[in-house]
Amino acid sequence: MRPDLDLKRPENARDPYPVYAWLRDHDPVHRSDSLDAWVVTRYADVLAVWNQPGVFSSDRFRDVRAAPESVRPDVRAVAAVLADWLVFRDPPDHTRLRGLLQKTFTPRQLEKNRPRIQAAIEALLDAQVARGEMDFVTDFAFPLPALVISMLLGAPAEDIESIKEWSDQLAVYLGGSVVAEDNFAEARTGVESLADYFRALLREKRRAPTDDLMGLMLRAEHEGHTLGEDEIVSNCVLLLFAGHETTTNLLANGLFLLLRHPDQLARLRADPGLAPSAVEELLRVESPVPSTLKIATEDVDLRGAAIRRGDRVLPILSSANRDPRQFPDADTLDLGRRPNRHLAFGWGIHFCLGAPLSRLEATLAFRSVLRRLPHLALASDAPRWRPWLFFRGLEELPLRWTLPE
Ligand code: HEM
Repeated sequence: MRPDLDLKRPENARDPYPVYAWLRDHDPVHRSDSLDAWVVTRYADVLAVWNQPGVFSSDRFRDVRAAPESVRPDVRAVAAVLADWLVFRDPPDHTRLRGLLQKTFTPRQLEKNRPRIQAAIEALLDAQVARGEMDFVTDFAFPLPALVISMLLGAPAEDIESIKEWSDQLAVYLGGSVVAEDNFAEARTGVESLADYFRALLREKRRAPTDDLMGLMLRAEHEGHTLGEDEIVSNCVLLLFAGHETTTNLLANGLFLLLRHPDQLARLRADPGLAPSAVEELLRVESPVPSTLKIATEDVDLRGAAIRRGDRVLPILSSANRDPRQFPDADTLDLGRRPNRHLAFGWGIHFCLGAPLSRLEATLAFRSVLRRLPHLALASDAPRWRPWLFFRGLEELPLRWTLPE
């Protein structure tokens, strides 16, 4: 039976998988009037979109930034910062920016910080273990990635509460909430506060050079290019934002899935070496970023659909990740799944810069949580998913446990 295909309905936003399954079989490149976009649901087609960055552009804020006065001031203010984000640029700018940022975000930098990430995990758990209960989202999954990315960037730990508040204000807009009416004013406050904050911090780091990401960005050089101040500030906001809104959801969605699949949880408890593979499978089954948004730069035919220049296109990676044409038993959680070429971190030139960081954080976090809380259970049968299009996350994840004698 054909489901109601309106992805803006809160019920569908909370559980879009039945709609995606129907679309993959019957209308794989679907014109959604409510989203004013083409919804691309098959693995092969999502790849086709990502493989043609010249046809499916990521640049959707620079026009707004340059727009005449007719665009609302708060919309333009948000665009002013977002337009410089790596993720919203096309080549050749993207190539230059990515080369420079990649020079700072290196495996060596990550490895150097591994002990500090582990220490942050243990400290958060220390504060909870004796309580016997927590909301995993508020008490662990939210603070951990925020602490880690702030630490890597070189922001003082005492600023975290403000940073989180500003980032939340932006998240409601960028997350694509289907229930929030107009969130530009809030997004503007968030993004401008973050930009002011990083600009001030950058001034300090210019005076006294540091070895953190901000310090490295100031000194980065790649093929004769360097980063301008606006670009550094804007991309600090991006790293801060991308660095925690997404990983929070990987941690909470992942633990929820594990607790809902006791056989798989037992498998992981018995073999902690399975954690890296488990993280990949959790990313596949409940992808924290279900979709991105691209703009067609020319008229193009995709599986028979006549996409026109300027049209919005949504490559739905969370549908691609459950496409049975690519993954046998696609809806089944199998922590040892191999091969597992999921698209949770995107693909091609925009492949997630932070993938190694979130993989490391999640692997260390799941190992520690399961080791320190051996008798863990869900304290609510039906945690609610946020009705968002571009981030998939739980509103809360209440847990309880008993400690071994
Ligand atoms: C589970 C966690 C994460 C998920 C699921 C995720 C997902 C994604 C996806 C799907 C893209 C591609 C966007 C597109 O094609 O439009 C992307 C890009 C990006 N991500 Fe992540 N991300 C995660 C964590 C992080 C972290 C921790 C950071 C940084 C600290 C980060 C930084 C970035 C950046 C900078 C880009 C843009 C890359 C480019 O355009 O070249 N992400 N991410």
